[in-house]
Amino acid sequence: MISTLSSSSEAIQLEERYGAHNYHPLPVVLSKGEGVYVWDVEGKRYYDFLSSYSAVNQGHCHPRIVKTLQDQANTLTLTSRAFYNDVLGVYEKYITEYFGYDKVLPMNTGAEGVETAIKLCRKWGYEKKGVPENKAQIIVFENNFHGRTTTIVSFSSDPDAKNNYGPYTPGFVKVPYNNVKALATALEAENIVGVLVEPIQGEAGVFVPDDGFLKSTYALCQKHNVLFIGDEIQTGIARTGRLLACDYEGVKPDILILGKAISGGVYPVSAVLADNHIMEVIKPGQHGSTFGGNPLGSKVAITALEVVKDEKLAENAFKLGTIFRDRMTQVIDKVTIVKAVRGKGLLNAIEINDTPDSSTAWDICMSLKNNELLAKPTHGNIIRFAPPLILTEEQLHECCDIIEKTLLDFKKQA
Ligand SMILES: Cc1ncc(COP(=O)(O)O)c(C=O)c1O
Repeated sequence: MISTLSSSSEAIQLEERYGAHNYHPLPVVLSKGEGVYVWDVEGKRYYDFLSSYSAVNQGHCHPRIVKTLQDQANTLTLTSRAFYNDVLGVYEKYITEYFGYDKVLPMNTGAEGVETAIKLCRKWGYEKKGVPENKAQIIVFENNFHGRTTTIVSFSSDPDAKNNYGPYTPGFVKVPYNNVKALATALEAENIVGVLVEPIQGEAGVFVPDDGFLKSTYALCQKHNVLFIGDEIQTGIARTGRLLACDYEGVKPDILILGKAISGGVYPVSAVLADNHIMEVIKPGQHGSTFGGNPLGSKVAITALEVVKDEKLAENAFKLGTIFRDRMTQVIDKVTIVKAVRGKGLLNAIEINDTPDSSTAWDICMSLKNNELLAKPTHGNIIRFAPPLILTEEQLHECCDIIEKTLLDFKKQA
């Protein structure tokens, strides 16, 4: 029998002793989740303001999604793609119609989705654009975050993510984010096949580019016959107040990458969407994954996407996001410890008035935890706030009260 743990310290000690130390979690041990709440081993309830890095947009253990998972788990879970299954085609029809693409290529994790998009883009470059063999280049942006594979970390700007994982994969050109001029110059080079872009840089600290950046990037891609690859793994599925963050500028990526919340937070699912003239370059045997497109994940993804529409999560995220930033702007007037709030929908961050190497953001998150709200610093002095999108306005105000009180008290301590 698997033993259960009775105390948080016991759980933390086990992870310390037996797990690789590749994370630095806040010292809270969660044992239950429901909607916008999670509970620790000792039974204390918290608002979850991280939502598993936006993978739990529909809320923890959403009953419809869990029911789908249970029903399908009792029926058929995995066939591999050596055979057809009776769910995948239904899912493929559903997701392609939902996002308006001809085809989907199903994978499991976000990083796999990004790898798939890179491969698809390169292959398109050789076979459709006529780029000479092994010469394809993809433009990426400084401070990007697209995952953890060796190829993806090869074009990271973050030393922690990148250092000592070389030799690095060539074929990427890095330009500053939100700088159309630099992008235009980079696109003049030969053999560019794609531009890989996060519509908002989430991991970097919720950096929202200027209005028009995505539109201009898309127009430049068109001009140079280059594919616009939208990584909406974090920003997609209603998080930013639209179904996709690119929708704000009326941009439809040539290749769209989704992950995180199409899983409903219960089972890893990622997806790469594109139209036929792009997707057709991948033929049998040229790409795949044992678990990608399995019936369990496919069924879960359909329900997760249905919930987003049925519960109007994009509309709610838009409305609550505006209230959240208004409230935080008022808080900033009262405290010196926070200097800025930014974001879209319910993907937001506050910037702490201290150096990135200070422990202030971490200390604030510890105080927030004591006040029953969980959030995590990203890149030193930035705290991301990304609650499940089913949050109500009343709950949002309660959470803003917690944040405000914590920051006011923190000011007193400092
Ligand atoms: C924009 C973006 N792309 C890719 C990934 C990688 O996803 P995964 O952790 O599922 O591999 C993330 C994860 O945070 C992300 O935010």
